[in-house]
Amino acid sequence: MLAGKTIILGVTGSIAAYKAASLASMLVKQHADVHVLMTQNACQFINPITFETLTGNKCISDTFDRNFEFHVGHVSLGKRADLAIIAPASANCIGRSSRGELRMIC
Ligand SMILES: Cc1cc2nc3c(=O)[nH]c(=O)nc-3n(C[C@H](O)[C@H](O)[C@H](O)COP(=O)(O)O)c2cc1C
Repeated sequence: MLAGKTIILGVTGSIAAYKAASLASMLVKQHADVHVLMTQNACQFINPITFETLTGNKCISDTFDRNFEFHVGHVSLGKRADLAIIAPASANCIGRSSRGELRMIC
């Protein structure tokens, strides 16, 4: 069902961030093309290298990273995604998104 789908997995700064690695792995096993976006705070809980290894895609955690396959990574990726998941979603992230202030890349 997920084969060939492009999925954005947003990871925020929460103690459950390590579980996102299992989620990413499960999505990859379903043959989805998984791209992980992390907040800077999420990087304090789990290293982007973990997601890059599991998904085979570069993990985006820096808005100003120009070393990226997409023109403007966080924008063009959003346009081609079939599904976006934020897991875990910190209270900070949920609060910001409720006010339209969500910034996955800080
Ligand atoms: C050890 C530790 C565990 C945390 N666990 C959670 C959590 O489970 N849920 C949560 O909403 N915030 C948790 N926080 C607080 C968030 O990391 C903090 O609000 C942070 O600003 C979230 O940033 P982000 O939403 O930009 O990723 C935790 C902080 C620390 C230091």
